[in-house]
Amino acid sequence: MVFYAEEDVAEVVRSHGLPKVMSEDLKGKPGHVTAYVPRLSESQEAEGVAPREFFVGIGKRSEIRLKHVRKAACAAVSTLKSKKLTKATIIVPNDIDVPSTTIAGPHMSVNEPRRISQSDVVHGLACAILSGSYKFDKYITKDDDKNVPFESIYLQVQPEADVSELQKVVSRSMVIAKATALCRNLGNERADVATPEWYEKKAFELASTYSTKLAMECLHAADLKGLGMNLLLSVGQGAVVEPRLILLHYNGAPESSEKIALVGKGITFDTGGINLKPTGFIEDMYIDNAGAATVLATLQACVELDVKKNIVVALCLAENAISNTAVLPSAIVKSYKGLTVEIGNTDAEGRLVLADGLTYVQKHCHPTHLVDVATLTGACVVALGEYAAGLFTNDDAFSAQIRAAGDNANEIAWPLPILDEHAEELKGIDSDLKNIGKGRYGGASTAAAFLREFIEKDVKWCHLDIAGPAKARGEKVQGASGFGVHMLIEWLTKTSL
Ligand code: BES
Ligand code: ZN
Ligand code: ZN
Repeated sequence: MVFYAEEDVAEVVRSHGLPKVMSEDLKGKPGHVTAYVPRLSESQEAEGVAPREFFVGIGKRSEIRLKHVRKAACAAVSTLKSKKLTKATIIVPNDIDVPSTTIAGPHMSVNEPRRISQSDVVHGLACAILSGSYKFDKYITKDDDKNVPFESIYLQVQPEADVSELQKVVSRSMVIAKATALCRNLGNERADVATPEWYEKKAFELASTYSTKLAMECLHAADLKGLGMNLLLSVGQGAVVEPRLILLHYNGAPESSEKIALVGKGITFDTGGINLKPTGFIEDMYIDNAGAATVLATLQACVELDVKKNIVVALCLAENAISNTAVLPSAIVKSYKGLTVEIGNTDAEGRLVLADGLTYVQKHCHPTHLVDVATLTGACVVALGEYAAGLFTNDDAFSAQIRAAGDNANEIAWPLPILDEHAEELKGIDSDLKNIGKGRYGGASTAAAFLREFIEKDVKWCHLDIAGPAKARGEKVQGASGFGVHMLIEWLTKTSL
């Protein structure tokens, strides 16, 4: 596979000995793939070997951005997949200079590099290859429909390239891809299997694999009752499997006073509760634990990359079931923090489990920085589509770091506000707070405002509402997307606090 820029068509035709007429086929547009099957020798014909060459456009040299390289890499991978080719050699382009005049646009201007280094290209390629080789196929019984894994993909670089440096880039990409695959597997598993108890087992597996680096704590319903974590209990009280709060501790920087908490919404199925979700809205709700999946998978990568930071991960796990024991709308429940909350709508459950989880980590683990990740509101999907997460914060500098990490990871986190008016909507009449605002408008911001009630003033906090991007509905990527893992790893490995 050869990647080429639009200006280089003539050169590609010449140097690869292609028939001149092929210059008409090579369009050079990002992701445009042209196949060439050379005339076979008799022995190749006899052996049934058919080496094919693919030429993949990356666009006009003067306009190339990293996203075009990624697009080309994805196109290359889907070509291999669609033809069930399991072996390939990819000729990696060298560093690509990006003229500064082409850098424009309100968003990409922030972090778009002036030069796309070969490391960036290799990272982009490796991520595309590895994510393209994922398929949730454990329930597929027909061989033809099963995933055909790649056997070997070679990345070929020019002799003067720093190969050992590039190998490090590939190893890091592989850790990120493995974590993303874990996140996707956790999200994709269906809710009759993936109960809070199943999640506990998955967390335990990770903690046992890295028993010298991770410590695990699990609070079961009786523990939650003893502590007064009634919001988390109320969400899970209709389900057969009890809710849980799971904590995993990783101390990669014992000398540092800084600590990061990553808190994930882990609703293993969201029926909506007594405020039952209708058909059309309920089907995807087995992915409502994507936040928990993201933070657990991120931790796996942190351990494997030996990240020098102190991290605690909290998984707020419950099934929001409908049953005769489910919490009733209008119930007034005392949170672990002490604030009372009227349940105006049992479908606004994510903020309830998070509220108690947030209180617990702040009380017992004393983080300086806290990121929560949650498929929290349909309103956020209305605002941003499925392309970006909503990003809310009490500290703009911190939020800028997360956003920049997202840009580098090709996962967009877009800042949204929490206005005083959003917070005022949550004031209770017979209770301190309500779990819903006045109407449908601004639902992502009122949900964030609710969470903020449970954040201590001196804790730097970001909230990522991933309701949109947590699920992919594309042709190539389908189901749980693993969104957020790459972003958080990027932030944890490349940013000093
Ligand atoms: N899990 C949903 C949010 C969601 C919606 C995630 C679509 C993924 C895709 C959440 O628990 C929910 O139901 N939120 C309600 C809140 C409302 C009742 C205030 C919503 O967004 O409608
Ligand atoms: Zn809900
Ligand atoms: Zn939910």
